[in-house]
Amino acid sequence: MKAAIQSSNILAQSYVSVRAHTTGLAACLSAEDCLLQSMPDASPVKWHLAHTSWFFESVILTRQPNYKVFDPHFAYLFNSYYEALGPRHPRPRRGLLARPALDEIYAYRSHVDAAMLKACLDEDLCEPITLGLHHEQQHQELILTDIKHAFFANPLLPAYRSQRSAPRAAEPLEWLVPQVGLVEIGYGGDEFAFDNEKPRHPVWLKLFRIATRPVNNGEYRGFVAEGGYRRAEFWLSDGWAKLQEENWQAPLYWMKDDDGSESVFTLSGIEALDPHAPVEHLSFYEAAAYAVWAGKRLPTEFEWEAAANEPSFAYGQVWEWTRSSYDPYPGFKVFEGVASEYNGKFMVGQMVLRGGSCVTPPGHIRPSYRNFFPPATRWQFSGIRLAEDI
Ligand SMILES: [Fe+2]
Repeated sequence: MKAAIQSSNILAQSYVSVRAHTTGLAACLSAEDCLLQSMPDASPVKWHLAHTSWFFESVILTRQPNYKVFDPHFAYLFNSYYEALGPRHPRPRRGLLARPALDEIYAYRSHVDAAMLKACLDEDLCEPITLGLHHEQQHQELILTDIKHAFFANPLLPAYRSQRSAPRAAEPLEWLVPQVGLVEIGYGGDEFAFDNEKPRHPVWLKLFRIATRPVNNGEYRGFVAEGGYRRAEFWLSDGWAKLQEENWQAPLYWMKDDDGSESVFTLSGIEALDPHAPVEHLSFYEAAAYAVWAGKRLPTEFEWEAAANEPSFAYGQVWEWTRSSYDPYPGFKVFEGVASEYNGKFMVGQMVLRGGSCVTPPGHIRPSYRNFFPPATRWQFSGIRLAEDI
């Protein structure tokens, strides 16, 4: 009994801290900022604040006796993609939701929080609550990627935060040779992991070499300077078509100054391009083209995970595109209930990214974590790690 109370308290503490982190991210933003939606892939901060609350409400609270729904319209406004939970407001039009006002969204969060703190005392709800917290952490990262994209669309190029980025020290590019043969891939622990990280299963790996760190801006500048964006021979056919369609000439947030020097738009506003920082905001197509130019290749997600167990392998600064398409592991089972739509239904047409980025919340990075995006995606903090056969 004592142990049960203790674990309920820990869950309630995690709940409070994760929810406070989300509102903390939005604290420096105005109501106008919070409504911005710069493209259909990105969502307004206000929508993220509401949707993460809707998730707890619809997955947990509406199934509890005596819970009073805050506003019955919110199920339509803030459902993301759950077919089982009914129709929803179209994603590209989330930026038009001037009403409910931001204050009302914060009142909604408080209403959900009060009920959720009681729900945290029910041990049977531990699993769905933990899922809701990991879901909210995913949206914390999206709040930052989405506001960065929205601010970049403003000619004033506003900064989200005043703190400037610290310059990085030069790190030599070294190579490591991980343990190969039959290796175990996937989550095998007893803490939380998403359904797509399981089951743990054996994969056969041939001998390969992998870089100890991601490609940096200085190295990527070499690719740009050597006509990387003008020479079709480096590119996958779909990537070359996309490059032409969108006129790609450099990573998403790179900017050329009048004197020819490069700067980059960051959450801290415009900064000089740091040659030693990992290159970020690349599509899979750019990552794959760079690897061809460099005479290497991208690792598979299995190679990446095998390497992540080696002490000299540094990750967590930038998401790293792998050469693996996002597929179910052998024996994959979706989460039960409403959350069955969480991951499995997206397993087509997307590539796996591994690692975690500078805007991934603490505690949300692990070697088995599988992020995924369509190959043309650039607004995430996504970069490159090289591998090669030996
Ligand atoms: Fe979501």
